[in-house]
This record gives sequence, structure tokens and C-alpha cells, in this order.
Amino acid sequence: VKQTAISISPEQTRELGSTLATNLAGGETLILTGDLGSGKTEFVKGLAGQLHCTTQVTSPTFTLVHEYRDGRLPLFHMDFYRLQSESELDELALDNYFRGDSVCAIEWGEKFAYRLPVNSIIQVSFTIAADQSRQIGWRLVDCR
Ligand SMILES: Nc1ncnc2c1ncn2[C@@H]1O[C@H](COP(=O)(O)OP(=O)(O)OP(=O)(O)O)[C@@H](O)[C@H]1O
Ligand SMILES: [Mg+2]
Repeated sequence: VKQTAISISPEQTRELGSTLATNLAGGETLILTGDLGSGKTEFVKGLAGQLHCTTQVTSPTFTLVHEYRDGRLPLFHMDFYRLQSESELDELALDNYFRGDSVCAIEWGEKFAYRLPVNSIIQVSFTIAADQSRQIGWRLVDCR
């Protein structure tokens, strides 16, 4: 499964996140890859909206994990940008988050991809084009 789209506004990026979220059933891990400011957090706002999480989504750059538990599925939003080492990752106790009934969306997740579950990985890529539009693509990677 592979999809790509062009987004010319933050609203459109949130809409794409919302569209992807309609297909989530729990147990998925989204690896969000793209430059600073390319729209990863905006996309997660769309995910959270479709899942009916009521708390406003903010960037977990400094706190590393934000938990949104009041929606259709629990959503765990992580940002590995500032993670430097495996021991810091161990402190997050990630296994608590990778559960069959929840969704993890991880900005900069590719940094520690080998520490993530192997099944139901959705890779989402964000590329800023010359005209400032964002090319957003996603594909399901299932290694089972
Ligand atoms: N088409 C677009 N989609 C998403 N954001 C856009 C778009 N056009 C402009 N923007 C702006 O780009 C910024 C995207 O910020 P966002 O926090 O989502 O980026 P990010 O990928 O999460 O960055 P970081 O790696 O720093 O966390 C916002 O300020 C938003 O208003
Ligand atoms: Mg972000």
C-alpha cells in the first residue's frame, strides 16, 4: 500500500493525517520522517482529531512523549529528535506504548527504527518542495 499527496497548507496536512487515521485499528506504529518544519506535528494533529482526542496536540520535542488517551484509540505521540542514546530510549520504557490497542506516531522515529516493533509499521515521509508545498507519502511496511 503506497500513497502520496501534495499539501499546500497546514489544514491540508491535518486533513491527510485525518484520512490516514480512519484506517487505523490499533497496534500501528507510524514513523514520521522529514525535515524540521515539514509538517509532522501538523499531521499528528489530524490523526488526533479523527481519533476524537480532545486535548490539543503540541510538539513533544522536549517531553519526548505525549499521551492522548481519551479518543477512539489511545494515541502516543513521540519525538526522537533530541534522543541521543539508547540508554535515553530505555528510560522511555517504550514497551508500555507499543500495544495492540493503541497507535504510536513517532517524529524522527527512523533514528531508532531498529528498536521499534517489526509489524504494522507505517512510514510517513514529508518533503518540503521549492514552492513550500509539502509532499507527503505513506506506505505500510509489514515484516511478519
Ligand atoms: N503544507 C503544509 N503542511 C504543514 N505545515 C505547513 C505547510 N505549509 C506551511 N506549513 C507550516 O510549517 C510548519 C510545520 O510545523 P510542524 O511543527 O508540523 O513541523 P515538524 O515536521 O513537526 O517539525 P519538527 O521536526 O521541528 O518537529 C508550521 O509552522 C506550518 O504552519
Ligand atoms: Mg514536530
